[in-house]
Amino acid sequence: MVQISLPENSKVKKGQYFKDKTDSKNIRKVNVYRWDPSSGENPRIDTYEVDMDNCPSKVLDVLNKIKNEIDPTLSYRKSCAHGVCGSCAMNMDGKNGLACTTSHADIKGDINIYPLPHLKVKKDLIGDLDGLYKQYESIEPWLKNNSKNNKDEIYQSQKDREKLDGAYECIMCACCSTSCPSYWWNGDKYLGPAVLLQAYRWIIDSRDEDRKQRLQKVADELKLYRCHTILNCTSACPKGLNPAKAIAEIKKMLATT
Ligand code: SF4
Ligand code: SF4
Ligand code: FES
Repeated sequence: MVQISLPENSKVKKGQYFKDKTDSKNIRKVNVYRWDPSSGENPRIDTYEVDMDNCPSKVLDVLNKIKNEIDPTLSYRKSCAHGVCGSCAMNMDGKNGLACTTSHADIKGDINIYPLPHLKVKKDLIGDLDGLYKQYESIEPWLKNNSKNNKDEIYQSQKDREKLDGAYECIMCACCSTSCPSYWWNGDKYLGPAVLLQAYRWIIDSRDEDRKQRLQKVADELKLYRCHTILNCTSACPKGLNPAKAIAEIKKMLATT
């Protein structure tokens, strides 16, 4: 039988334990993935005892409290704190989501926090999204319209505008792509649900003149057809979007044009 084991330096070890110093009676344990590539050490899980009496409601608040009051070395991304920028995407309690919109009260027991799965890690909770952004760039996510008179507003009917609902709201957080098994195994070739939803958004934009070329560009066994409609992406999306449906629509367009 084939035995697969992780290389010694990638095994996640038990890390430091940060005991509460506030004497709070309302403590929760928070286990956080830590890895600093410059240290040469293995990744580890540090455990923090957090005083929940003085912590606002979201997982991002817990992380901010740890960073501000317990351990300033912890690294993670955040910006808007309102579910708009997508930068605080991570894996909490085994699910991908936005730390700023996920309530810690909804997590039972210890709070376990990891980076988004199957990405290289830059540091601690910061996943490496360089590859995903290159793929995003490859679908040319901007309006292509060669109207001579491009000083005028390009008209779009209300009906055509409505077609973009469910696509334009995407914040490129990558929760969907990093929950997609096809993207885990073929992320260098398969575009994945986040980028394909964006490709779809431009394909169906009535103002865009590049529809045919856009379709041809994604019509590829690896870029598109690695989607096997497993639907992890749709259940992972913190904005309630349905990238799997968008991928199915692209396939339908290709089959009928
Ligand atoms: S439906 Fe497609 S994109 Fe979504 S998780 Fe499944 S394989 Fe990935
Ligand atoms: S479809 Fe949803 S999960 Fe995927 S990148 Fe967009 S907002 Fe994030
Ligand atoms: S910090 Fe912007 S989405 Fe969470």
